[in-house]
Amino acid sequence: MMITKNINIIRNTLAWSGLLQKCYKNIGNHAKFSYKISQYSSVASFESVDHCQHPYITASDKETFEALKNDVILYEDFITVEEEQAILKEIEPYMRRLRYEYDHWDGAIHGFRETERKEWNDVNSAIIQRIKKKVFQDATPLEHVHIIDVAKDGYIKPHIDAVRFCGSAIAGLCLLSSAVMRLRHETKPGILDLLLKRRGLYIIKDAARYDYTHEVLKSDESHFKGEEVTRERRVAIICRSEPRPQDIH
Ligand code: OGA
Ligand code: MN
Repeated sequence: MMITKNINIIRNTLAWSGLLQKCYKNIGNHAKFSYKISQYSSVASFESVDHCQHPYITASDKETFEALKNDVILYEDFITVEEEQAILKEIEPYMRRLRYEYDHWDGAIHGFRETERKEWNDVNSAIIQRIKKKVFQDATPLEHVHIIDVAKDGYIKPHIDAVRFCGSAIAGLCLLSSAVMRLRHETKPGILDLLLKRRGLYIIKDAARYDYTHEVLKSDESHFKGEEVTRERRVAIICRSEPRPQDIH
């Protein structure tokens, strides 16, 4: 009992001091993005009033929608069924060999496996370039793309991606399953739910990236506008950019 508690304290201390981020960075092939986890751990319930009249966005209040409407961008069908298959065909032989992890050191993600990839075949390189061009007009994209594969019963808790390792915009291409992503203001009330559709691309930037946590809801909590969103295994192809100069110390 006591030991478990101490280990948790150590983990938290390391995560918060950034030490573990440093160690993690040297793991090489593994993703180096550590997370700042918010104090929220349970699902916030909010009345889903249609403040935004957007097919794939709902907000807890109008102010939250107004604050984020320029910092969240969703592209439906960013890739075709064939392109989705092409990406999966390239990554599956590697991903299949990894085991889903259910007890990650920082506790931010449950039921996941991940990798980073720099080299892609020609077809998939073109897709990655298309994402990078869409997202990073002024920033330098990181060469490595982060691939995160979350099992049907997996989920991602509220967190903010480490500012030391990536910049002001994060883009995710969703393969195999739709999901609900929830953004919550770090310190005050305000929630935005995004329906991330299979084969869609999402971008969260600026306030949505720095001032709000993001999370991917569990299967049994995945509802959007009163409808259940069926969660299957989901693979996200995530492109990030170089951190802002003021965030590198
Ligand atoms: C992450 C993350 C979201 C997604 O890996 O940091 O927030 O779309 N992923 O899977
Ligand atoms: Mn994240």
